[in-house]
Formats: sequence, C-alpha cells, structure tokens
Amino acid sequence: MAVMIKSAREIQLMREAGKILASVHEELGDFIKPGVSTKEIDALGEKLIRSHGCIPSFLNYEGYPASICVSVNDEVVHGIPKADRVLKDGDIVSLDAGVIYEGYHSDAARTHLVGTCSAEAKKLVEVTRQCFFEGIKFAVEGRHLFEISAAIGAYAESFGYGVVKDLVGHGVGKQLHEDPQIPNFKQRRRGMKLRAGMTLAIEPMINAGGFEVVWLDDDWTVVTEDGSLSAHYENTILITEGEPEILSLSI
Ligand code: CO
Repeated sequence: MAVMIKSAREIQLMREAGKILASVHEELGDFIKPGVSTKEIDALGEKLIRSHGCIPSFLNYEGYPASICVSVNDEVVHGIPKADRVLKDGDIVSLDAGVIYEGYHSDAARTHLVGTCSAEAKKLVEVTRQCFFEGIKFAVEGRHLFEISAAIGAYAESFGYGVVKDLVGHGVGKQLHEDPQIPNFKQRRRGMKLRAGMTLAIEPMINAGGFEVVWLDDDWTVVTEDGSLSAHYENTILITEGEPEILSLSI
C-alpha cells in the first residue's frame, strides 16, 4: 500500500480527532493515582471518547477487549485492563488510546508516574518522551523516514536503555495502521522521503534494561523479558514543509 497524502479536509478531521484524544489523555492523567484499577481507567477512557462523539478504535481491534491499553511497570504495551489490577504507589503506567472521529483516526500514548516513583522510573519516563521529540526533529518534508528512527534509537541508547524492536510506529489516518512502518532504531537504509500531508504515529517503546520482549499467554500483553521497567510515548503528527504539527498534543 502506498503512503497516503492527506487532503486539507482529511487533515482538518485528523486535527479534530487529535484534539479530542489529547483531552482524553489529560483527563486520564488526572485520574491516575494509587488505588485505581486498570479497568476503571479503561471505563473512564471509553466514556470520555464516546462523550466527544468518537469511537474507541482499539475496542475489538483484532479482538482486543478494551478501549485503552493499560500497561504497568514491566508491561511494554497492550496490557488488558482488569478490575483486580490496582495501581500502587511507585508504579509507572502507560496508557495507549485511539479515537475515530468522522472516519479518521488519532493514536497517542503517555506513561504516567503513580504517586512517588524512583529516580530511575522518572528518568525512563522522561527520556522516552524526549525520544519522541528527538525523532520528530527529522519529521520534515524532504528528510527520510529512518532519520526519525535513528534519532529515537540513538537518544535512548545514549542512556543505556533497550529499544523495543518487535513493535513499531506507523502511518495513521483512515485506518489505525497504515504504511509506512516506523521502527524506533537505526535502519540500514534511509527509508522513504517524507512529504507534506503524511500523517504518522511515532511511538518509542523503551526498556530500562534489555530490548527483548515477550508476549504473555493472553496473546496481547507485551512484557520485558528481563522484568525491567518499560515506557511508551506516542503522538499522531502531520508532516509539513517546516516543523511537524503534533496533532494529538494540546499546547
Ligand atoms: Co500506534
């Protein structure tokens, strides 16, 4: 499938989708505290998404049973919300959410600190967020896709962190997952040339320890192989001739 260039109308709908998703993440962030179950986070997320006239894109996606992926500590992504999984002081929790607004998707993730966290946990969360911003320095028309990948990977590795290789970022728009795939580490080639009007989900997944991950028996939850903490940060962005527009982040 060719990488699509979105029309002005499509971009406007994706701006709306992104704005809604940013507000959902802000409200979910305010809700995070010790004692909250991952199921309660999902329930609030679904309610917020629907209250804005959107559809939660993850719900039933390839059988995924919830609206928000809630991944705690060594869980990298795709944690399944559960009533008996209760957040405790010192945990970190990654929330990944997707919305469909008027047929267009936005996809974003944040990792939150629960109560008082270790210095190591705080640093991992902050570096993972910064990986996204290091990557999008290259998200400009005329640069090459894998310059983004290399910048993310180099920044994470400069802290000795493991960059997850089994999951990647992606194009986003009419579908949740469109071409191209966007790895978070250096590639042998420079990749396709970026053009204004491309919409991409850039999503570093970074482990405090080794890069290896394994899938739990639920066939969804991805965890670090060595049990180390993992963080995730993602936004839907629009490539332009200048700075990229971060569609799923409110300023
Ligand atoms: Co994504």
